Amino acid sequence: MAADQARSNRRVVLKRYVTGFPTEDDMELVVAAAGAVTLAVPPGSRSVLVKNLYLSCDPYMRGRMSKHDDGSYVQDFVPGEVLTTFGVSKVVASGHPDLKEGDLVWGMTGCEEYTLITNPESLFKINHPELPLSYYTGVLGMPGLTAYFGFFEISKPKKGEYVLVSAASGAVGQLVGQLAKITGCYVVGSAGSDEKVNLLKSKFGFDEAFNYKKEQDLNAALKRCFPEGIDIYFENVGGAMLDAVLLNMRNHGRIAACGMISQYNLEQQEGVRNLLCVVAKRIRMEGFIIMDHFGAYGKFEEEMVGHIKEGKIAYVEDVVEGLEKLPEALIGLFHGRNVGKQLVAVARE
Ligand SMILES: NC(=O)c1ccc[n+]([C@@H]2O[C@H](COP(=O)([O-])OP(=O)(O)OC[C@H]3O[C@@H](n4cnc5c(N)ncnc54)[C@H](OP(=O)(O)O)[C@@H]3O)[C@@H](O)[C@H]2O)c1
Repeated sequence: MAADQARSNRRVVLKRYVTGFPTEDDMELVVAAAGAVTLAVPPGSRSVLVKNLYLSCDPYMRGRMSKHDDGSYVQDFVPGEVLTTFGVSKVVASGHPDLKEGDLVWGMTGCEEYTLITNPESLFKINHPELPLSYYTGVLGMPGLTAYFGFFEISKPKKGEYVLVSAASGAVGQLVGQLAKITGCYVVGSAGSDEKVNLLKSKFGFDEAFNYKKEQDLNAALKRCFPEGIDIYFENVGGAMLDAVLLNMRNHGRIAACGMISQYNLEQQEGVRNLLCVVAKRIRMEGFIIMDHFGAYGKFEEEMVGHIKEGKIAYVEDVVEGLEKLPEALIGLFHGRNVGKQLVAVARE
């Protein structure tokens, strides 16, 4: 097939800005007509044309589906335009000196079959194609770096400390728990189903886990799991869990504020009542956005690959087949339907 042969391109676009919980109907699969994509880059440009293999579904994408008049840390999606996300892609044409046809990369791309990437400096080359390529949407991609950076740099763990992870079976949480075990901590995870609770204990080696949806009283559940209190809380959910955690933190505890998914679809954010604990217990609570720390990726990748190859880190993925499944998979995150890292296989090669 000629390298510049024209093709059609299927893509997922945002239909309208979202308030409340997103639905599949807020997105649409559109087919750009045959000829929409030429498998070549514009002459003289440094752009790269990629074929997307795996696309990531991430909770932060929900924020991008709403309009922020006062701005946000990441650009809003635009109705009628293709959604963007982290993905694993294969270079099919390149005007960039460091990337050539056939190279495998991960980074920000479109929710579509082919994407012309005009800022290829933002892409990372895939250095370990011997591992499943889909890992570069998860354990070896953005969520993996989030777990690693958030746990080691923000939480500053010490051997023997007591660690709680919420949304613990997800893309980030399952890794935080395992990194905490490697560090010699005592780790408890909260998750939203008995199946996930079993996974935490049997597959990921958490010391204890509980189904927060079945607990009448989160404060009591935390007291049961942590009779001596919590040193580190890796915060993924916010809301009632954060309030209960504050009551159970130890003096000089740390809260790594990674995300607060329970708040993403609320038109009015819930209040937090127990903030005085931050003062009384000398708690350090620190948020972070992992895009600020991509410079740390190289060191992280080699360390994580080592853990995977030595069998110290396991990774569970929830893979749906076909671009048309992306809207359903994305909104499933906000109902806890994913078991492990949610991603979409668009093409296998
Ligand atoms: N700071 C950063 O740079 C950064 C980077 C990546 C991710 N994050 C954040 O990290 C967190 C986890 O992300 P992830 O990619 O690993 O997602 P994930 O855990 O794989 O998937 C989301 C999970 O959140 C849980 N959830 C959904 N609605 C909830 C609610 N109302 N209350 C409590 N739990 C709820 C569900 O699990 P259950 O069945 O257990 O409820 C769901 O499976 C999110 O808050 C995300 O925004 C932050």
